[in-house]
Amino acid sequence: MVGFEDIKDRVCESVVCKFKTAEEAAEMIKDGDCLGVSGFTPSGYPKAVPLALAEKAKKTPFKVNVWTGASVGPEIDAAMVEAGCMDRRLPYQTNATLRKAINAGKVRYADIHLSHFAQMARYGFMADRKKIDFAIVEVCKINDLGDGKVGLIPTTSMGNSSSYVATAPKVIVEVNTTQPVSLEGMHDSYVPLDPPNRKPIPIERPEDRIGTPYIPCELDKIVAVVPCDITDKVRPLGEIDEDAKHMGQNLVNFLKNEVKEGRLPANLLPLQSGVGSVANAVINGLVNSDFKDLTVYTEVIQDGMFDLIDAGKLRVASGTALTPSPECQKKFYENVDFYKKYLLLRPQEISNSPEVARRIGVIAMNTAIEVDIYGNVNSTHICGTKLMNGVGGSGDFARNGYLTVFFTNSLAKGGKISSVVPFCSHIDHATLDVDVIVSERGVADLRGLTPKEKAPIIIDQIANPKYQPYLYDYFKRACEKCGNSQTPHILSEAFDVYKWFEETGSMEKPAE
Ligand code: COA
Repeated sequence: MVGFEDIKDRVCESVVCKFKTAEEAAEMIKDGDCLGVSGFTPSGYPKAVPLALAEKAKKTPFKVNVWTGASVGPEIDAAMVEAGCMDRRLPYQTNATLRKAINAGKVRYADIHLSHFAQMARYGFMADRKKIDFAIVEVCKINDLGDGKVGLIPTTSMGNSSSYVATAPKVIVEVNTTQPVSLEGMHDSYVPLDPPNRKPIPIERPEDRIGTPYIPCELDKIVAVVPCDITDKVRPLGEIDEDAKHMGQNLVNFLKNEVKEGRLPANLLPLQSGVGSVANAVINGLVNSDFKDLTVYTEVIQDGMFDLIDAGKLRVASGTALTPSPECQKKFYENVDFYKKYLLLRPQEISNSPEVARRIGVIAMNTAIEVDIYGNVNSTHICGTKLMNGVGGSGDFARNGYLTVFFTNSLAKGGKISSVVPFCSHIDHATLDVDVIVSERGVADLRGLTPKEKAPIIIDQIANPKYQPYLYDYFKRACEKCGNSQTPHILSEAFDVYKWFEETGSMEKPAE
C-alpha cells in the first residue's frame, strides 16, 4: 500500500506537514458538506478519500453533495452511492449504479451544460444556494510557487478543478503515484474573471495556451495531502461494428463534399467529438480518410484521436480529459513525452466554451439516443422518463458549432426500437441546433430546410426500412390533418410508438 514516503519526491517541502491518511481526511468532512471534486470521465478523479468516505458512511450515516467535472469512476459514483452518502450529484454521470439511484429518486441530479457549471459553482447558484466546502483534487505533483502558494499539477483531466480550488475554503489533495509526473506541461489552467469584468477568452487556434501549466493554490487552504495508488478506471470501447463503420464513412463523404463545395477548408475546422462507442468509431473513420493536418477542440480525448496522431493526421487535440481504453492508456503512459506534444487539457469552462466554439468554428459531432422526423434530438432520456447519462457538453457545442452533426443508429435494441420517431419523447437539442443527422444508412442535411422538407429526408436517409412505412404514413396523415401547417403532428398519436414498446416490447405497430 502506498504511504507518505512514496509521495515525498512528488511534492514540495512546504506541504509535507499536511500529510494525512484518506481516513483522516474523510473525518474532516461533515454531513451536508458540498464537495467539488476533480475528474472528468473515469480520469483524474480522487479515489482514496471517496472510498474512505463510503466506509465512514457505513458506520455513521451522513450525506454530502458531490460536484465533479462530469462522469467519474466507481470509487465515487458507485461506492459512495452504495454507502448511501450521496445527496445531490452534478453535473453529469454515466455510472450504472448511480443511474439506477437517480432513476429511483435516491440521488438528486439535475442536467447542466458542462461549460456552465464552473461559473454556477463560483456564484453559488446551485440548489440550496450551496457553495463548495471542500475541493478534493487528484494531482501527480505539487510544486512550490513561493509567496505562500503552490502549483497543483493535475493528472488525466482538468474538469472544474481550477474553479473548485479557487473557490473552496479547504482543499484536500490526493497525490496519485500511478499517474506519471511527466504529465506536467500538458495542462492549461485558466479561470475567467466573472462579469462585468470578464475578458474575451484569447484562444484563436486549438493549440493556443492562455493560462498556467498548474492550478495555483494558497498553501493555507490545503488541509490534507493524501497518498493514493489507485488507477483511473478507464473502460474498453465497444467494437467498431459494420454500422459504426458506415456512419464514419458517411461522415467522411459528407465532409469531403463540403470541402469540394468550398464550405470547409481542406484540413476541415476544429473537430469536437462526443463520448461513447459511436463517437469513437466515427473519429476512426477519419483515421482511414485522406484528411490531414486536422485539429481537435473537444471535451474528451478518446482512442480515435491517439490513432489520428499515430497516423500523422493530427496537429493538436485540445480537450479537458483523456479517456483512453485500457490498451490506449498503456500506450499513452509508455509514450507520454511523445503524445504530450499533441495534447492540451483545459478547464471544461474553456474546452467547452460557447464563445470559443463559435469563433474558431468547431464541427460539433455528438450522438443521439433518438431523433424525430423534424430533426429534434433526444440525447438523455430513454422513453422520455429514464435518465441515461445526461446532456454533457453536447449542448455547449451543438448550439455554437459552425456545423452541428448528430449520429444515431437507425435501430436500437436489436430492432425493437426505432431511433427515428414521430415526436421525440424528450428534447435536448431543438431542430434549429441540428444541421446534419448521420446514421449507418445515410446523411440528412437539414440546413435551411423547412420542417416539412426535413421530414421526408430524415425518414428516407436515417430511419430503418422496418419503420419507414409507419413514419411516412404518420407524416402524410399529419399533413392532411393539420392542413399543411408549419410542423404537422397528430398529437393524439405522436407518442404511440412508446406505448407499443411498453405493451409489446417493440415499437412496431401491432396488427389491428
Ligand atoms: N432507446 C433505448 N435505448 C437506446 C436507444 C433508444 N432509442 N438508443 C440507444 N440506446 C441504448 C443502447 O442500446 C445502449 O444500451 P446498452 O448500454 O444497454 O447497450 C446505450 O443506449 C448506449 O448506446 P450506444 O449505441 O452504445 O451508443 P454510445 O455509447 O455512443 O452512447 C449516448 C450514446 C447517446 C447514450 C451517449 O452518446 C450520451 O450519453 N450522449 C449525451 C451526452 C453527450 O453527447 N456527450 C458528449 C458531449 S461532448
